[in-house]
Amino acid sequence: MRGEGAVTEQDALYDATNPGYATLQKANQALRGFPVTRLGELDWVAALDRDLIQPRASLSGDEEMTLLDSDIVMKDTKLMPYVRFPHRPHTEWLTCDNCHDQIFVPESGANAVSMAEILNGKYCGVCHNTVAFTTISCERCHNIPRD
Ligand code: HEC
Ligand code: HEC
Ligand code: HEC
Repeated sequence: MRGEGAVTEQDALYDATNPGYATLQKANQALRGFPVTRLGELDWVAALDRDLIQPRASLSGDEEMTLLDSDIVMKDTKLMPYVRFPHRPHTEWLTCDNCHDQIFVPESGANAVSMAEILNGKYCGVCHNTVAFTTISCERCHNIPRD
């Protein structure tokens, strides 16, 4: 769980000379008590499950998210455990067209995904390492034991 310790980066982003600075809620206060992963990164999926955040489907907030509860198992992983791509936790924040068809053709096995491409910022790497958890946590994706 996240404590209330100062987030060192936040003062580099905020302008402490701005008159609004004193009233601005700081990240360490806003995120106090949020779940973290074993690496200390915020666990946003767990935060969503615990209802700590409520992402909106639209700016006005009166639209519903379209959830899809289907997992895709990706087996081209050499000696690593297989990858499970879970639609559900993605569609709790994202619309289908955030991924289809620009990042992924919606067909199992139709995309030439590889770790090198991901690390180059393609496929899963469009978001993972940028706005979603980093690829250092191999086991969050490679989580299905090989047969
Ligand atoms: C975060 C990205 C992402 C989002 C958002 C997303 N998908 Fe997908 N989708 C994928 C990936 C990755 C695959 C697997 C592609 C592969 O195996 O090469 C996939 C596969 C599919 C498939 C083929 C599955 C199969 O079993 O053949 C369909 C159909 C699909 N998606 C529909 C949707 C719909 C409908 C939505 C919105 C409700 C959606 N997807 C949202 C990434 C996404
Ligand atoms: C965000 C999800 C994600 C994370 C995190 C991740 N991988 Fe992958 N990895 C994938 C996907 C997707 C594939 C392609 C699977 C497929 O096409 O069937 C893959 C493929 C691989 C492959 C197969 C060979 C290749 O180059 O494509 C290896 C080896 C691999 N990953 C190692 C790792 C290691 C080591 C880590 C941690 C340092 C890691 N991965 C973290 C999603 C991830
Ligand atoms: C369009 C952006 C986007 C793409 C592309 C994307 N993800 Fe994600 N993913 C997210 C976000 C946002 C979250 C939730 C925030 C977080 O956990 O950091 C997430 C969460 C996850 C989770 C955590 C689920 C949980 O229950 O904790 C897994 C596993 C995952 N992604 C795997 C993948 C794999 C594998 C791919 C590629 C095949 C992929 N993602 C592609 C945005 C994306």
